[in-house]
Amino acid sequence: MNPRHFTSLLDLSSEEFRLLINRAIELKNHRDPDYQPLKGQLLAMIFEKSSTRTRISFETGMAHFGGSASFLSPRDTQLGRGEPLQDSAKVISSMVDCIMLRTDKHETVTTFAQHSSVPVINGLTDQQHPCQLLADMQTYFEYRGDIKGKTVTWIGDGNNMCHSYIHAAMLLDFNLNIACPPGYCPQQEFVEAAGERVRFFNTALDAAKNADLCVTDVWASMGQEEEQKLREIAFKDYQINAEIMNAAHNDALFMHCLPAHRGEEVTAEVIDGTQSVIFAEAENRLHAQKALLEFLLCKK
Ligand code: CP
Ligand code: NVA
Repeated sequence: MNPRHFTSLLDLSSEEFRLLINRAIELKNHRDPDYQPLKGQLLAMIFEKSSTRTRISFETGMAHFGGSASFLSPRDTQLGRGEPLQDSAKVISSMVDCIMLRTDKHETVTTFAQHSSVPVINGLTDQQHPCQLLADMQTYFEYRGDIKGKTVTWIGDGNNMCHSYIHAAMLLDFNLNIACPPGYCPQQEFVEAAGERVRFFNTALDAAKNADLCVTDVWASMGQEEEQKLREIAFKDYQINAEIMNAAHNDALFMHCLPAHRGEEVTAEVIDGTQSVIFAEAENRLHAQKALLEFLLCKK
């Protein structure tokens, strides 16, 4: 039987997404140290890019569930010396129970999944970051209840996080207002698939009007470091600050996947202010991914 993968949020149905969110909340609120459904199981984590949250949350999640996780860097494996992805996927999956992969090209994750005999999880690609959306949506549900029919505002780069927000809007049925500088919009295929749920605005202020949740991300993602100066100019009017939060609903939340650059995409006043839920959001990576691991690995 083909394993179930999580390369994109669209690998889930709307119902499964809600199920995972509710299960994550349950696992967070009622931790039972004797519940070890993954006893003896191993998660291989291949990181071709840096990580704090993703690595620690998967390692801790596996430990909570009685299993373990192995950190693999391309520098120290044959992957970094050009061993074909297909061969690597077959070999690694013959020895472990699940594989998490953080890499540049989205196709690397989908190719790995095609050739893996165990579930493959996307731990971030240049195109998508679905694990982060599990945590973000869990956080919204915890603070405000179901997000269906609400308005989320994305300000900044039309990047991997923005693409996964578009997928979340499709699955959970919320409106997504986007304000990006010209030339930095999300890819057309993502926008077209979402239809009327996604709307574009010329200014950050217009996009933020009546928002229930305001979200942003760094102006230069991993791998774009040399564009930092250029991007600082292009994105200067796309910062979430007090004026933007004032245009949103009074009870609007602020989220950021982290790491953040205070004074660039968000002011310190907002990210460290009362509407910000960034630390609950970060912690929820652990709970949401435990729900995901259970979903992918435990026999129903
Ligand atoms: N948000 C996120 O994925 O953080 P890390 O890069 O630290 O894993
Ligand atoms: N867009 C960011 C997200 C980091 C978690 C990046 O890809 O670097």
